[in-house]
Amino acid sequence: MDLSRFPYLQGNYAPVATENDFDHHELTIEGKIPHDLVGAFMRNGANTAYEPNHYVYPLDGDGMIHAVYIKDGKAHYRNRWVQTSHLKTERQFNRTLYGSCGKLMPVPQEVIDAGGEPNPLRNTSNTNVIQHGGKVLSMWEGGFPHLMSPGLDTVELHDYEGALKPGDAFFAHPKICPDSGDMVTCIQRWEAPFFTVKIVDKNGQIINSIPVDLPAKAIIHDLQITENYVIIFNSPGFHDLEKAKAGADPFRWEPEKGTQVIAIPRKGGEPIWFQTDAFFSWHFCNGYEKDGKIIVDYVWMKQIPFTQAMDSGLEKQTRNMHRMTLDLTTKAVVDTKIGDIYCEFSRCADNRCGKEYRYGFATASNRQWADAHGYNCTLRYDMNTGEHQLWEYGPEANAGEPVHVPNPNSDKEEDGYIMCYVYNPGEDPFLSILSAGNIAAGPIAKIHIPVRVPNGFHANWMQDLQLGE
Ligand SMILES: [Fe+2]
Repeated sequence: MDLSRFPYLQGNYAPVATENDFDHHELTIEGKIPHDLVGAFMRNGANTAYEPNHYVYPLDGDGMIHAVYIKDGKAHYRNRWVQTSHLKTERQFNRTLYGSCGKLMPVPQEVIDAGGEPNPLRNTSNTNVIQHGGKVLSMWEGGFPHLMSPGLDTVELHDYEGALKPGDAFFAHPKICPDSGDMVTCIQRWEAPFFTVKIVDKNGQIINSIPVDLPAKAIIHDLQITENYVIIFNSPGFHDLEKAKAGADPFRWEPEKGTQVIAIPRKGGEPIWFQTDAFFSWHFCNGYEKDGKIIVDYVWMKQIPFTQAMDSGLEKQTRNMHRMTLDLTTKAVVDTKIGDIYCEFSRCADNRCGKEYRYGFATASNRQWADAHGYNCTLRYDMNTGEHQLWEYGPEANAGEPVHVPNPNSDKEEDGYIMCYVYNPGEDPFLSILSAGNIAAGPIAKIHIPVRVPNGFHANWMQDLQLGE
């Protein structure tokens, strides 16, 4: 596989070729894994199996999940591809058959005749992996999720007992309400401005659907819940499927339309719209309601950070943590920058989701960006004061999304742990465990993995999940 022409398949963005298992005898631990950690850290990401025709980060590439199972201060590492029908068909023919999201290819007739996957749009299943309703689900925002076993075997496409219909694009960024256990998510469709909020209860049953009228089908990647609302950013970034099929640039940015912030009542009812200048955001950090206002914290950027051009440089644009305050009475919008640090993959403690909270976490950079993304630090913002703590793993390191893992013996945010994968040239890749209360002290444990863990997307902690259960 020659990946030399793809900027985002270089260095630690390059895929790995094998699936591995390493038990606790084969993993080197620096420091000490806290004994109260029982569960699995899982992270999804793009890991292209065959040389792509085109590659637009962060959309393309077959999903691969990297998991570290932890119990009794010991760890077990496992990585597995999500066995999508597209990947299985390419394995059957042992070559690239499907194009990228930015440049689709017609599916060869011989593939269709042989019963291979006929849809030219690859369900990459590469964006997120969550545990909800007793299930582990691998997610991509353009299609159905895949049901995974705790040991990362791909079980099947999951359609919520027929509730998802062909063409439904199930969201990859649900939020789980810490009070009810409900998962708040949505369905979009590729061909129309169709946006329906879905509420999935803690047992995995869809219990409510709230359709929202949008003027056009924009790229909406994340949502945020507050006590009473679902918040989305309707930014003027668009993907045109027909153009992708024709090989033309399918992405466009129309800043004159501005960005609409939409507050959708969680129990249904008329959405509240707020108009702002154009901006784009991949990720919320958190949101909550206070004194008749909605506060949303998120990572701001000026415009959508990619085009059809693989090396346009748009990916390098500034992104910072912002706080937006939406006045429900006057409809006024106030947006302030929390800090100047380049950051992405913002997270809060999941048990504070939708509630007033203190700490926001993100992966961050304290250096000039070179040819590609590089987040070499873990960042903690005190969202009340704007003060920050930063831990740098190394000047050339790349740190993944930081996940807050609650301390089972304490409800305090600062008593939890922050976990992320780190690649740092010169040492084996590792799963970093920081104290949420003192990021600046550096890792309390590094679980070193003898093979590379490529840069990826979203991670989550699966409390109590173990191999073989
Ligand atoms: Fe995301």
